[in-house]
Amino acid sequence: VRQLVKQRRPPGFPPGPSPIPVIGNIFSLATEPHVFLKRQSEVHGQIFSLDLGGILTVVLTGYDCVRECLYNQGEVFADRPSLPLFKKMTKMGGLLNCKYGKGWIEHRKLACNSFRYFGSGQKQFERKISEECMFFVDAIDEHKGKPFNPKHLVTNAVSNITNLIIFGQRFTYDDRNFQHMIEIFSENVELAVSGWALLYNAFPWIEYVPFGKHQKLFRNAAEVYDFLQEVIQSFSQGRVPHSPRHYVDAYLDDLERSAGAPDSSFSYENLIYSVGELIIAGTETTTNTLRWAMLYMALYPNIQERVHREIDSVLANERAPTLEDKQKMPYVEAVLHEVLRFCNIVPLGIFRATSQEAKVNGYTIPKGTMVITNLYSVHCDEKYWNDPGAFSPQRFLDSNGNFVRREAFLPFSLGRRCCLGEQLARMEMFLFFTTLLQRFHLQFPAGSIPTVTPKLGMTLQPKPYSICAVRRQQKS
Ligand code: HEM
Repeated sequence: VRQLVKQRRPPGFPPGPSPIPVIGNIFSLATEPHVFLKRQSEVHGQIFSLDLGGILTVVLTGYDCVRECLYNQGEVFADRPSLPLFKKMTKMGGLLNCKYGKGWIEHRKLACNSFRYFGSGQKQFERKISEECMFFVDAIDEHKGKPFNPKHLVTNAVSNITNLIIFGQRFTYDDRNFQHMIEIFSENVELAVSGWALLYNAFPWIEYVPFGKHQKLFRNAAEVYDFLQEVIQSFSQGRVPHSPRHYVDAYLDDLERSAGAPDSSFSYENLIYSVGELIIAGTETTTNTLRWAMLYMALYPNIQERVHREIDSVLANERAPTLEDKQKMPYVEAVLHEVLRFCNIVPLGIFRATSQEAKVNGYTIPKGTMVITNLYSVHCDEKYWNDPGAFSPQRFLDSNGNFVRREAFLPFSLGRRCCLGEQLARMEMFLFFTTLLQRFHLQFPAGSIPTVTPKLGMTLQPKPYSICAVRRQQKS
């Protein structure tokens, strides 16, 4: 076996655990892969390799190593792996899973411009987020302080902010079709890193095995595609060329402008993939962050009390928060940062690949190698964090209580493919969180403390929990 292993790894390739013949290290990723991979790095080094059923993969661990590759060698590590699953889902087009090159540049530029033009760059946009925050807290109020699972409400409210940019409109909280689409899409985010998905990547012929979670993944993807196609069609009605009302219109403008150009990456199919990717990338992550934040506030009443005090002192007479208030609320900022660090929403980032041969720490990594960035390992890197296993917002404050940025804080990743929704996510998290905590005190139903063990998937989310949002009297 050892001989086989040695032959499989090309010369100069980083070392790693011995693979089992044929399936390699696939099953070692079955439970808490981010934790397992961090432990492996203690044996094999900051940069080591895995064999995922014949797919040679490099794992980057700790802040220094992740920064060296994703930032210092940004272009080299900017590709996505051509895995059978991604090929089947989006044909390596769209935006998030697009191969590094002209297609990705065109789609990323269009998305960034649209996010600025229809989102953060528009004066009205903040007001629209605040309106959504009000719908959100009013809907929570309907529970009258009784226990409820906040998952669906948070998901609906958060996805509406992206919907405003993409479709120019929000969906009401009782829109069952939209909710169902988000539900099965988010199920796919979970399934995409399941054992079955990894097996499919290694052995694509299992497509013809009629049972298994990969079949569910394909069915969900087909249903989401049909739904998005219909919605895009409906929201592009009444479009006036060159006067875009939202991202879909802007995309159709670019599509028409490039019609006939043989190398254009714009297509109706890529529009559908991009819309789906933007919706799910924006919703799943920000929703999970807010759900964790609510859970930790109820878990640590003393931290919640300090949040309440800061909110009350800055927002006198129950005035609604604005983004300008952010600078005056270092503790709220510290809490949200600690939630992002501690809860590791996207623990292994989104899989990358080398766009050309790479040289790192004396190793040689061939072009096209799959790369996993262990962002969890960055957030518990002892070189940069004291007692990383403790939940402590204080680490983001100086001795005067001012907010301090920390270098080894990478929830949005780094480099060319870093999250394009970071600014939007930060706006949403601040406004939703402060509006929520301004109105409510969060506590668990008597005698029930939920687990903080996450539900595993491409993103980490809390297991479903019940919480009571009790109206508070603001102290001014
Ligand atoms: C990519 C995290 C919110 C859109 C990513 C990546 C991470 C991440 C870790 C992977 C980058 C890489 O390949 O290294 C987060 C977190 C969020 C958040 C923690 C919220 C707290 C959003 C929002 C949007 C968004 C609100 C848009 C609506 C994207 C897109 C990519 C991405 C399109 C792919 C970028 C590319 O491949 O060029 N995000 N994200 N994200 N994110 Fe986010």
